[in-house]
Amino acid sequence: MTYKITLLPGDGIGPEITQVARAVLDHVASLSGFSIKFTECAFGGASIDQYGEPLTEKTLKACQSADAVFLGAVGGPKWDHAPERPEMGLLALRKALGVYANLRPAAVHPALADKSPLRPDLVAGTDVLIVRELTGGIYFGERERTEDKASDKCTYTRAEIERIARVAFEQARLRRGKLTSVDKANVLETSKLWRAVVTEMGQRDFPDIELDHMYVDAAAMHMLRHPASFDVMVTENMFGDILSDEASMLPGSIGLLGSASLGDQRPGLFEPIHGSAPDIAGQDKANPFGAIEAAAQLLESLDEIEAAKRVRAAVNAMHEAGEWTGDLGGSLTCSQAGVKLVERLESQAVAA
Ligand code: IPM
Ligand code: MG
Repeated sequence: MTYKITLLPGDGIGPEITQVARAVLDHVASLSGFSIKFTECAFGGASIDQYGEPLTEKTLKACQSADAVFLGAVGGPKWDHAPERPEMGLLALRKALGVYANLRPAAVHPALADKSPLRPDLVAGTDVLIVRELTGGIYFGERERTEDKASDKCTYTRAEIERIARVAFEQARLRRGKLTSVDKANVLETSKLWRAVVTEMGQRDFPDIELDHMYVDAAAMHMLRHPASFDVMVTENMFGDILSDEASMLPGSIGLLGSASLGDQRPGLFEPIHGSAPDIAGQDKANPFGAIEAAAQLLESLDEIEAAKRVRAAVNAMHEAGEWTGDLGGSLTCSQAGVKLVERLESQAVAA
């Protein structure tokens, strides 16, 4: 079996971490008996520099015809005043691929509990999955700006809410059976519809799932007070953007987290949740674990479950051995962390 993966290294630290993830994917593929054909395309700021736009027709085609798309990161101050920002390429890609469900897990590894900015006793046992709606809401509504007035319109349809809620309920069923739906139903009409649709679906199709609702401001507070009390959270695009950055601090570094953006069929889009970190770009300092977690999620989307498990086991072994990059107080460079991970994959395979 050969899978086609389109690689979008993007900007800043994107190319460094993508290179590590690629080597890990290649290696685990050979251990698990499949292979991968990578196609690399310019995306984001790199594509603006080369072609004048963040997402070219050619790159989009290469993404649409792949089994999975892997993205590093986009953006940077260099393009702050570009007519079209690199981020617009990412939004257009998400929309074109129809990846409406963004899965952002944040779990605290016991070896890392003292790396979190929160007290270790508070974060211990945290294992939350944020399911963020990714192709609707205020990100994609009508917008307008004049000299004196600007507006961004937020719209959600019942169908959009139903499909993301279903993904979240199903994820809760695979995990600990608890779903928290986050909205602002005390103020917003979109949130009132959101709450009604999620409640209906829960009663009708998922009576086994413990469902509760929380306003987004309260959820932001509870995430710091009782992070371990959450299992799956589901929320709209903008709230999910904010809450997932907040959640990313629980495990100790934003550099650890990966995300999967899924639609009803392949390809999914896989990326670390961090940005392009222009301040450390090109210095081989970045933490590649977020990209590697995204690679594990990519393997799951291809039903290569054993390969995904191998990758996560190797990452866990590195955490247990304290083999970290600088953001976690370790001494490994980005590329060294990649080499170590491949060695771990190899020694696990020999031991098995
Ligand atoms: C994210 C990012 C993006 C978003 C930006 C880069 C457009 O913050 O993936 O969370 O807001 O969705
Ligand atoms: Mg974000």
